[in-house]
Amino acid sequence: MQPLKHEIVYFESREEFNTACALRIAECAAAYVKRNGKCTLVLSGGNTPCAIYGLLATKFRNQFPWDKTFFFFGDERVVPPDHADSNFKMASENLFSKIPVDQKNIYRFETEKFNPEKAAQSYEAKIRNFFHLADGQLPDFDLVLLGLGTDGHTASLFPNSRALSESKRLVVSDYVEKLAAHRLTMTPVVFNRSHHVFFLVSGKEKKSMAEKIISAKHPVSELPATFIRPRQGPVTWFINQS
Ligand code: 6PG
Repeated sequence: MQPLKHEIVYFESREEFNTACALRIAECAAAYVKRNGKCTLVLSGGNTPCAIYGLLATKFRNQFPWDKTFFFFGDERVVPPDHADSNFKMASENLFSKIPVDQKNIYRFETEKFNPEKAAQSYEAKIRNFFHLADGQLPDFDLVLLGLGTDGHTASLFPNSRALSESKRLVVSDYVEKLAAHRLTMTPVVFNRSHHVFFLVSGKEKKSMAEKIISAKHPVSELPATFIRPRQGPVTWFINQS
């Protein structure tokens, strides 16, 4: 098992955390654009990123390479894109609606068109087409943003999910007992091909879960975030401990 290259940055306030995360995301995206002419960025869902996305669209607007960044989603809820629970809606409200991003550079799950399995297959096809992947090949996303649940889940990889052992598919749908709902998620093999992973973690309870994940010596099904062990680059933990 590859040693996990990670850095951990602690913050004492949510505001400090939000500002630092937004700045690092902008700097990282700009570096990839400088090096490769584009940045492929996987957005995280949930609540933690809301203010961070808002700062990208305002305070760091001029530092972010909007026209050369391609936006993807690490996971999605099985709801229409205009539903309050939609990660796409959250990103649209906090980010896309405030910046001059070409809609064709935003790759979202089309949950309104398909059932969960077909929505997963359709999103996987979008990723394969974008990266021109042959069978068996994996995408190399530049930067992946991930959140963390207090149960150790990340994206929509929940404890003991069969998605954790998926080695071929890029995107799967999974019925999550505790939510009594289906979720759509990229699989660990995709996250682990990325060049850089940022975990955005805020709150005391999540801080201790983050430290448990970081100290894990190998993947544990009960703690899905332990499966995130990118081989091509570091994991940066932004942890707001207030
Ligand atoms: C989602 C996310 C999920 C989230 C964590 C933390 O779709 O909800 O991908 O993994 O990042 O559950 O969520 P909060 O930021 O809302 O605490």
